Amino acid sequence: MVEITAAELTAAEKIFGERLDLAKRYVEHLATSGTERGLIGPREIPRLWSRHVLNCAVIESAIARNSHVADVGSGAGLPGLCLAIARPDLELTLIEPLERRVIWLQEVVDDLGLDNVTIMRTRAELAVGMVDADVVTARAVSALTNLAGLTIPLLNGSGEVVAIKGRSAAEEIEKASKVIRKLGGVETSVVVCGQELLEEPTTVVRIIVNKQGKTA
Ligand SMILES: C[S@@+](CC[C@H](N)C(=O)[O-])C[C@H]1O[C@@H](n2cnc3c(N)ncnc32)[C@H](O)[C@@H]1O
Repeated sequence: MVEITAAELTAAEKIFGERLDLAKRYVEHLATSGTERGLIGPREIPRLWSRHVLNCAVIESAIARNSHVADVGSGAGLPGLCLAIARPDLELTLIEPLERRVIWLQEVVDDLGLDNVTIMRTRAELAVGMVDADVVTARAVSALTNLAGLTIPLLNGSGEVVAIKGRSAAEEIEKASKVIRKLGGVETSVVVCGQELLEEPTTVVRIIVNKQGKTA
């Protein structure tokens, strides 16, 4: 079993509630088949809860109820599977091009019995027109100048991008502001999630998109 500290357990209980058991099983998958099959480095095992699962799951607070969320470049399900477990009201589409990652994701989804997840084996650029998301999430996929073009078109004109970023968030926004505006981004901000739950809260870039210029 992957160890969890008392503080992490308190946070996990708050975020996952009665689905905490599913989150624990997901962490075990990451620590076993996930590392054996190269989806996550073995050195990450002691920090799976803090640096990966909780760090990703806290962004659920930035996502409205019953949203359709597309997670671009899910890899080992970060943040997509964390959100699917924490928020059964959300509908998740995980977009991931690499076959062995997709196979692993499907095995985990089947084992956990998650009925709010669809997996698409494709690149985000090729999923445009096939996905109509309210929110697009991403972590560790690309710099914002490029990520904007991978995420905003999946919103079909309006919605939000919630991209997990570190300390570079403000700088990345500055560099990407022109391309974000061109793609229909009307407001871009840095939001900190999980301040009350985590020792190291999660910084996200939130882009509100409204191509038609309608008021929300
Ligand atoms: C560094 S991994 C990050 C995985 C996961 N989001 C995480 O935080 O651990 C980047 C992932 O993005 C995927 N990826 C790269 N380019 C992509 C694209 N154009 N569309 C969708 N996924 C892409 C890769 O296959 C890989 O799984």
